[in-house]
Order: sequence, then C-alpha cells, then structure tokens
Amino acid sequence: MLGRDARGTATIGGSSVETILASAGCGTPAYLYDIDGIRVAAQALEQSFGSAPHLIAYAAKANSAGPILESLFSEGCGADVVSGSELGLVLEAGLSPDKIVFSGVAKRDDEIDRALGAGPSGICAIQAESVEEIVRVAARARTVGRVGRISIRINPGIQIDTHAHVATGHDEAKFGVARGDLGEAYAAVDAARELRLVGLSSHIGSTQTTTEPYIAAARVLFDIVKAREAARGGLDFVDAGGGFGIDYGQGCKVAPGDFVRALLAAQRAAGLSHRLIIEPGRSLVGPFGVLVAGVIQSKVSRATDRRWLMIDAGMNDLIRPALYQARHLCESSDDFGIHELPTDPLPEHVVIRDTGAYGFTMASHYNGRCLPPEIFVSRGRIASLSQRGSEIAWIESRLRM
Ligand SMILES: Cc1ncc(COP(=O)(O)O)c(C=O)c1O
Repeated sequence: MLGRDARGTATIGGSSVETILASAGCGTPAYLYDIDGIRVAAQALEQSFGSAPHLIAYAAKANSAGPILESLFSEGCGADVVSGSELGLVLEAGLSPDKIVFSGVAKRDDEIDRALGAGPSGICAIQAESVEEIVRVAARARTVGRVGRISIRINPGIQIDTHAHVATGHDEAKFGVARGDLGEAYAAVDAARELRLVGLSSHIGSTQTTTEPYIAAARVLFDIVKAREAARGGLDFVDAGGGFGIDYGQGCKVAPGDFVRALLAAQRAAGLSHRLIIEPGRSLVGPFGVLVAGVIQSKVSRATDRRWLMIDAGMNDLIRPALYQARHLCESSDDFGIHELPTDPLPEHVVIRDTGAYGFTMASHYNGRCLPPEIFVSRGRIASLSQRGSEIAWIESRLRM
C-alpha cells in the first residue's frame, strides 16, 4: 500500500519509492503503481454490491497498463472501452466479450464491426450516443450478419460541480441522447431487426465528490427505464456510469462503495432490480499511482521573490494540471502547482501523488520527450516494469515519412 516511512518518504508496500526506483534502474521520471492497492479497491467495490447482480466496467482509459487490467479482471471487473484499440486490448488481456461495454460519441464503422464481431455473439453492449449512431450500428449489424446489442446513453440533464471539460451530463453536452430525442431513438432501435435494446445508461462526468448528482441522474435513468419496461420490456441492465472522485489533497468524503450503496437504495426505491453496471476509472487506480520526478535545479527570481523547482517531468508526462487546472499533492514538486518544498538541500526526487489515473494514458511526446517507464509494485517488490520510450524511435518517426 502507498504510505510514508518515519522520515516522511513515500513508500509502496513498505519499500521506499527511492529503493524501488534504484532497483528498477530506469531513472526518472517514472510512474510507480501499487498493484495490491488496486486489487483491494476492486474487491471493496465488488463487495459493496452485496448479492445484487452487477458489473464493474472499469473505464480502461484511466489506465490501460496490462498488469492493472489483469489485476482488475481477475477481481471480476469488466471494461468500458472507447475505441477499437481499447477493445482489442481488453480482449487480448483475456476479458470475456460479454463483460465489455463500448462508449464514445464517434465510433468508426470498423470499430463498431469489431464490437459486433467479438466472441460468439459480440460484446455486452454498444452504448449508442445518438439516433444517427443507432442507425449506423443497425447498418453494420446487417452487413456483418450479427445482432447488435445496444444500450442508449441518456443525457439526464444534470450539471455537476467539476471542471467544464469533464462534465458530460448537462443539456448542452454532446454526450448521450437528450431526453426529448428518446422517442426517436427507441423508434430507430425497434425498427431494426438486427438490433436489441438491452440497456439504458448515463455518465454525468468525472471527479464527483458527493453522491447527490450521481443519484439524481440515476433517478432520471430509473424513471426512463420504468417507462420503457412498461411499454416494451426487454432491458437486461441499467448502467449508471462512473465518475467517482478521489482525494487529490482537497478532500473527498465519499468512497466508491458509497456511490454503489446509494445507487442500490435508489434502485430499490424505484422498484427495479435490473443488473447494475457502473463505469469507474479514476477511483480504482488514481490513488494507487505516483509520478516520481528527479529534481534538476532550483530557480529563484530575486527581483520578484519567486521560486521554482525544476524537475524532469513535464506536461508531456502528466497533463492534468495544465489541462484541467488539477492539483496533485506533491511531496518534496511545466507547472505542477504551488507547494511547500525543502530548498536546502534540494530534494533528490519529487513524488507527485494520485497520478494512477489519466497520467500515463494521457502522456505524449510533446517537447520531444520520451514516454516514461511504468513500474508495477506488489508486496513492496517490482512485479513488472516497462521501458522508457526510445529517443531513436521518436526521431525516426518524425523524419522517416
Ligand atoms: C462514458 C464514461 N464512463 C466512465 C468514465 C470514467 O470516469 P472516471 O474515471 O471519472 O470514473 C468516463 C470518463 O471520461 C466516461 O467518459
């Protein structure tokens, strides 16, 4: 588990981050993950459902590293994917197609074909986000000769208090089918012999630190489910989405299991008992990763009395602070924020906490930097690791066109 030793140094499974880095021999910057912590988080979330039928469809976009996928899948999780490549990845990792839902507003035909063609009868559901998409999935299902299982992602019209880029459930968002367009969406599914409407879903956005908006959206969803069941029947599941927040240093009082318990209560109150799907990403991996950067030098402006600590990680390694104005707790810290750090002597490393989600998966070659290595730690030991990206390969990719 991630912790701190008596000197305040970050530890994983009882071993200091510096010891782990030294035995990995890969230098900095590097991502380190606590695989045991991820497993325990998945187990706790599984248990929060009690005996209720459910699927935790882990949003693979949060962190798609093989050891993490394997750990989550072996704890019973499925996956929520948003591209043909993510679909290929989770299938290759051994996940059964019936544990996969496919989200995203702009799926290409070849991606839809992969979803329809996976395993003996396709994936659990293609989550359609528009009437136009339903019509396209029907056409692809006809072409490939398969029945397409569709879930309609509904836009519940719920605004959440988060960064505008990660709020997806309000009326102006491009995501999901507006409630007013649902009749047309149902008509499109029901008219297509090669489609089956198996579920209804919503996802109102990320970093929710209270359960109220999630449950408000779920209530809207449950009402819509009831109306559809009364009219036509046939739904297998209700998918309430992900977005559970974590404590980035500013506090988060609710655990992922609290969202599930509140969801189960709202479902009971609605008199429904469908299999529930949730799509957590960040909450399963975010708290269990750190980005370790090496300190290069300090910079002091005597004129303005400003101080900076220059480190070898940049926005190419972790873009969240630049993109979402996100704050991460830095231990000893482009601009990762304002932190109290020792200056005399300068620390050797800076540990940027809670970077297990949307860290590496959003990393890039910006500024000609290589992708950082990832180190997977279990019981304080390195279970596996990846290599740092290659400068030669990057130069080749830019010049040989
Ligand atoms: C459709 C959908 N489901 C689930 C998630 C996961 O959200 P989080 O990582 O905040 O739980 C996202 C994130 O963008 C998403 O777009």
